[in-house]
Amino acid sequence: MDALELLIRDHREVIELFKEVEMSHKKKDGKLDENFERLLQALEMHMNIEETMFYPNLVGKKETGNLTLEGIEEHHVVREILRELNLDPKNTAEWRAKLKVCRENVEHHVNEEETELFPDVPKVLSKERLSQIAVQLEEKKRELMELRSTHS
Ligand SMILES: [Fe+2]
Ligand SMILES: [Fe+2]
Repeated sequence: MDALELLIRDHREVIELFKEVEMSHKKKDGKLDENFERLLQALEMHMNIEETMFYPNLVGKKETGNLTLEGIEEHHVVREILRELNLDPKNTAEWRAKLKVCRENVEHHVNEEETELFPDVPKVLSKERLSQIAVQLEEKKRELMELRSTHS
């Protein structure tokens, strides 16, 4: 699996988690906190590995530079909404509305990555480099997960 496939797999997982959180909110199944926490962790991990191991290979390049800078700003907006979602009382219509705006932001960003940025990535990174980065992404993910389990 190369780096792009790995990131796309993450995207699918995050979108799935949004659905689970929305379901828990609607059904009041008692799993809202737990599912929101899973979403928070998956999104933070994905943004973290992109920002530290993936985007740095793409900034400053003619083909990918601008979209990557845009992506970094979109991560920033998503983090800001997530921070509020984490602080606000969850069982309200306002929270549900904020969650929807968060999902729409993530979907927009994911769509831009998958249809505009990723198709240009092979122009600046070789197949070998993309496989290398995939290994680094997996390692970083493992590191972050270990860190999390020792702190909880
Ligand atoms: Fe991203
Ligand atoms: Fe992404």
